Amino acid sequence: MKRIAVLASGYGSNLEAILEAQSRGEISGKVVLVISDQENAKALERAHRRGIRKLYLDPDSYNSREEYDSKLADELNKEEIDLVVLAGFMRLLTPGFVGSFSLKILNIHPSLLPSFPGTDGIEQAYAYGVKLSGCTVHFVDEALDTGPVILQESVPVIQEETIATLKQRIQAVEHRLYPIAIELFCRDKLQTRGRRCYIVD
Ligand code: GRF
Repeated sequence: MKRIAVLASGYGSNLEAILEAQSRGEISGKVVLVISDQENAKALERAHRRGIRKLYLDPDSYNSREEYDSKLADELNKEEIDLVVLAGFMRLLTPGFVGSFSLKILNIHPSLLPSFPGTDGIEQAYAYGVKLSGCTVHFVDEALDTGPVILQESVPVIQEETIATLKQRIQAVEHRLYPIAIELFCRDKLQTRGRRCYIVD
């Protein structure tokens, strides 16, 4: 069984969706650790409520991003983590960290990458006026939101809607899509060749 760590900076609705999918038996791995860079992240509270080990790592206690990520790696290695799931983790991971967990880190982004990477993906898409947005689950590489795409699903932008309603509808898709991608990883069904990620039997 794959041991999963979730890294989250904020509200943690994706964490919640993952944990619910796990308790319904839809994820064969197990979330054993939740780490945040924000002391008051709701995600930490959600982990605590479910009896999952939670850990706050304060960025101000480290001299550099490399030092922070090396502490992060130590904690993940101590827990023998097989899969790192980023769920609204608002820090760019260093190349050293990404290299040591190569093709073992997943991220979810609220746009159809490569459109609108970075923060505010939903706001950027809305402001641009696209008719189709969505979300992307991808492997994490050294740059921002550029790793091989695992799953993508589109969400149409409705003419009269606000950013808030678009966000709600995109997040509802995220909550369904992320557990599916995690389960594919847990069952060793993801194979990458270059940028292309194949789902195999
Ligand atoms: C999600 O919309 C995700 O796409 C982005 O950050 C947001 C996190 O939301 N990477 P939550 O904390 O899971 O509610």
